Amino acid sequence: MTATPLFCAESARRDYAEGLASRFALPLLSRQPAEGYWLELGAERLELVTTGKHGAVYAEFVEGAARHRREQGGGRGQPVAKAVGLKGAKDLPHIVDATAGLGRDSFVLASLGCQVTMVERSPVAAALLFDALERAARAADTAAIAARMQLVHANSADWLLQLPPEQRPDVVFVDPMFPDTDKKSAAAKKDMQAFQQVIGDDMDSARLLEAAITAARVRVVVKRPRLGAPIEGIRPSAVLDGKSTRFDLYIIKALRPQADSE
Ligand SMILES: C[S@@+](CC[C@H](N)C(=O)[O-])C[C@H]1O[C@@H](n2cnc3c(N)ncnc32)[C@H](O)[C@@H]1O
Repeated sequence: MTATPLFCAESARRDYAEGLASRFALPLLSRQPAEGYWLELGAERLELVTTGKHGAVYAEFVEGAARHRREQGGGRGQPVAKAVGLKGAKDLPHIVDATAGLGRDSFVLASLGCQVTMVERSPVAAALLFDALERAARAADTAAIAARMQLVHANSADWLLQLPPEQRPDVVFVDPMFPDTDKKSAAAKKDMQAFQQVIGDDMDSARLLEAAITAARVRVVVKRPRLGAPIEGIRPSAVLDGKSTRFDLYIIKALRPQADSE
């Protein structure tokens, strides 16, 4: 796949664009492309855009759906909170979101008070996350939440396995882009098509699951469409069903009984 380029549409933000280009190895364009997909830095934010029919895609933690979730979300009773073990928990877990994407799940978990390390391998998604985190850090309503979120641009399967023991997370959260029909229809909302097109399907989830189970102290949570197949290989220890989403739980004590003494 060829690298998605970055175009800076706001001359006053040239330095920031150069910083993004070097941090995420994005080719920096001097002109807006005539076709294809590219990242465009405007006065407000960084977006993934195209000349075609798709709407712009960006990560957003301050306004829109993120604001709604922050203000009206279901607290520790919502399914994702239960899945990572927040219900009744004394200490909030450190969570690695191994498939950060546009950071929506990470943001919910950080809003609930968890420390979240977002790991994302796609330079496009990582750049969109970086920019959203910058904006969230500057907004009064989200600065404290953004301070609990950290971004790592890496392949999680490798990154998780090189963590020193004292940095291993309590929970690893995994939400891969599966090449199955459920996920495709879920991602088929117009504005998400560009994201799916540029990022592609994740064909190596079994390897990621193994690395997650090796690194997590307490549990691994895999988010799936309600009727989607589980990740191949190790079977989940428990399943939490939601309306459209299912969470497959891999409880470390059940899978690795010696984890008690670690
Ligand atoms: C379905 S999206 C995740 C959406 C995310 N849960 C959200 O709330 O926005 C899957 C993302 O995981 C990333 N990904 C998949 N496998 C990965 C890996 N091994 N390491 C890092 N990122 C990975 C993909 O690049 C893609 O951005």
